[in-house]
Amino acid sequence: MTFQFILFVMHVVSYIAIVCSAFIVSIIALPINCPSSSAEWCQTKEIAAACGVTKQCTSFVWKNIDNDRVNFTIYYETLCADCRQFIITQVWFAYQAIADIVNLTFIPYGNAHEVYRPETQLYQFYCQHGVDECYGNLIHTCVIAFYPDTRQHMPFIYCMDSTFGDIETVARQCAKNASIDFDKVANCTNSPMGNQLQHVYAVQTENTKPAQASVPFVTLNGNGTDEIQDMAQTNLIRLLCETYKGPNPPARCKKTL
Ligand SMILES: *[C@@H]1O[C@H](CO)[C@@H](O)[C@H](O)[C@H]1NC(C)=O
Ligand SMILES: *[C@@H]1O[C@H](CO)[C@@H](O)[C@H](O)[C@H]1NC(C)=O
Ligand SMILES: *[C@@H]1O[C@H](CO)[C@@H](O)[C@H](O)[C@H]1NC(C)=O
Ligand SMILES: *[C@@H]1O[C@H](CO)[C@@H](O)[C@H](O)[C@H]1NC(C)=O
Ligand SMILES: *[C@@H]1O[C@H](CO)[C@@H](O)[C@H](O)[C@H]1NC(C)=O
Repeated sequence: MTFQFILFVMHVVSYIAIVCSAFIVSIIALPINCPSSSAEWCQTKEIAAACGVTKQCTSFVWKNIDNDRVNFTIYYETLCADCRQFIITQVWFAYQAIADIVNLTFIPYGNAHEVYRPETQLYQFYCQHGVDECYGNLIHTCVIAFYPDTRQHMPFIYCMDSTFGDIETVARQCAKNASIDFDKVANCTNSPMGNQLQHVYAVQTENTKPAQASVPFVTLNGNGTDEIQDMAQTNLIRLLCETYKGPNPPARCKKTL
């Protein structure tokens, strides 16, 4: 056997090994194949990952969907019965059905008012339903600050709004259920930071909600007409679907329109 022949055999063997391992890898990865047509690459997160274009899809394709999201903002206070009812029905249903096309923002303050106390350098809040409501508003404020993703704070808000009882007891239970660290939240509610965050919502509410408007008060892409209040409380999914002008409306919207 010549030296060249041995070299040739080794070459063939390694070639076969490479082909086999590529085959095995492709079998293991079988559920996710990168389609040949690039038009399909950003269809789902799994496909994008299989094609190695997650970054490109995120910045050029999915980002557009994010920019097209309908802005929907809810001005509410924690102990108002109509607010709770609205959040645990219309808002919760919309969140579950069409979260992808909405940018949901909660502003827990409502009809409260505030007075700055120079002696403590803190704002003092007065709430329609008393000190318990102020505490509830502050808890929601801190939860939203620490868990800004709607998928984190929406289940907590839903839980609190659908559970009656002592505010702190309910908040602790709901924090546990929604994987929220209540100690962190409690620290915030006792701190100047929590006070400041609540003040920001006070200013935002005063700048947006007409003083005489009742709560819940909502804005749709910044617009809060009477017509929008009515439509939001009657069929929020339909209102959001009709307002959404971006690509790929969710299947649920086609059913509604
Ligand atoms: C969602 O709404 C918040 C508050 O209005 C805003 O700061 C943010 O830019 C919005 N995000 C998108 C993607 O529209
Ligand atoms: C927390 O979750 C448990 C189990 O899912 C449920 O039984 C309980 O009612 C929830 N508590 C609250 C306050 O929602
Ligand atoms: C809460 O604050 C205390 C005192 O400032 C600190 O020791 C503790 O680590 C904080 N807890 C959390 C969960 O942030
Ligand atoms: C939603 O709000 C964000 C931030 O204010 C804004 O950039 C975006 O254009 C708004 N979207 C719509 C559809 O109005
Ligand atoms: C608010 O909604 C009303 C009624 O739908 C519409 O006529 C008006 O143009 C909207 N205003 C803004 C600023 O979008």
